[in-house]
Amino acid sequence: MTNSILPKDFLTHYWQKKPLVIRQALPGFQSPVSADELAGLALDEQVESRLVIEHGDSPWQLKNGPFTEEDFANLPPNHWTLLVQAVDHWVPEVKALLQHVDQIPRWRLDDIMISYAPEGGSVGPHYDQYDVFLLQGQGRRRWQVGPICDDNSPCLPDTKLRILADFVALDEYVLEPGDILYLPPGYAHWGVALDECQTISIGFRAPSHADVVAEFGQFVSEQLPDSLRYSDPNLEPAVNPGLIGADAIARTREIMQSLLTDENLGRWLGRYMTEPKYLDQAPATLCMDFPAIRQAVKQGLPLVTALASRFAYIPGWLFVDSREYAISDELTAFAQHLASGFDELDADFLLQEAREKPQALQILVDLVNQGALQLLEDELDDDYEKDEQDDQEDEL
Ligand code: SIN
Ligand code: CO
Repeated sequence: MTNSILPKDFLTHYWQKKPLVIRQALPGFQSPVSADELAGLALDEQVESRLVIEHGDSPWQLKNGPFTEEDFANLPPNHWTLLVQAVDHWVPEVKALLQHVDQIPRWRLDDIMISYAPEGGSVGPHYDQYDVFLLQGQGRRRWQVGPICDDNSPCLPDTKLRILADFVALDEYVLEPGDILYLPPGYAHWGVALDECQTISIGFRAPSHADVVAEFGQFVSEQLPDSLRYSDPNLEPAVNPGLIGADAIARTREIMQSLLTDENLGRWLGRYMTEPKYLDQAPATLCMDFPAIRQAVKQGLPLVTALASRFAYIPGWLFVDSREYAISDELTAFAQHLASGFDELDADFLLQEAREKPQALQILVDLVNQGALQLLEDELDDDYEKDEQDDQEDEL
């Protein structure tokens, strides 16, 4: 079942191809986060936030959070924007918006950013490298969309922001709450708040080719022994000793090709794309064993995936926050469910799997203890000290 609000032909005609406005994609929609709550998040040092002030000490001034109450008190009456990154890591109702774009693989998600602006607020004309769904959450925003830009498009000097110097609007739309503008990477755009305005940006990331090559190379190289070397046992006599011949290039290509297996590529992609967005925000680890987990589920605690955790799988492997777990074929349904993107998991199914399959039990326990799966109760850490777990062992 899908709650997607994207048209059936979205992937064929629009995804990564051209912009699309979806009027009233979510009729009656109201942002799940108030302007005050957004400002509150921007005070937190764990949250990435920015202020863009159009006419500050310099034009298009950028300030990075965390902010103080005083920073907000000193803002001009209009023409500024507060941007809060990864609100989906903090507010379950914001993460739940992902169900509406579930044709797009979850592992492509970057984050959900929310902007708040009074009238006139904007971050200037620019382009992004990522696909983005711009959902209007409050008030109205006028979007102007221009042509596709690239690294050669001139930008304004004297600002840390990449503001396009020669923005030309080709289309214009005024979005109201519940409307969505989809933009593929590269399209110039400029959104200006017409009144007090919130825009929710569901952004999808794509690794650069440079990252694919460098990071994949790093991943495979870590598995290769130093003794495995370029070799040329059937070397022909060198006519020109300085020439690197076609045979040497072919041997080098063979080395590369032997590493480009589906298994290597899949394992790298799984690890890389599930890397947590904020590496310094690992959740506290627990030491629960299976009986303790089962007990907590029996008490009615919902089993959920941590808001910031990323899950993906390929045949043979499950990836969670850049860790990989080898899985046999019989664990495919288990991995599929974990990586399904459901807000609340089917704990009975997962526990049943764990009871029947030792590999599933190990993974389940590890994921709970790593904080990627959570049993929703604040005091859980104190409840399950090591001693208590030992007492419960014979319940299994
Ligand atoms: C905004 O929400 O103000 C800007 C979002 C964007 O242009 O990507
Ligand atoms: Co943008």
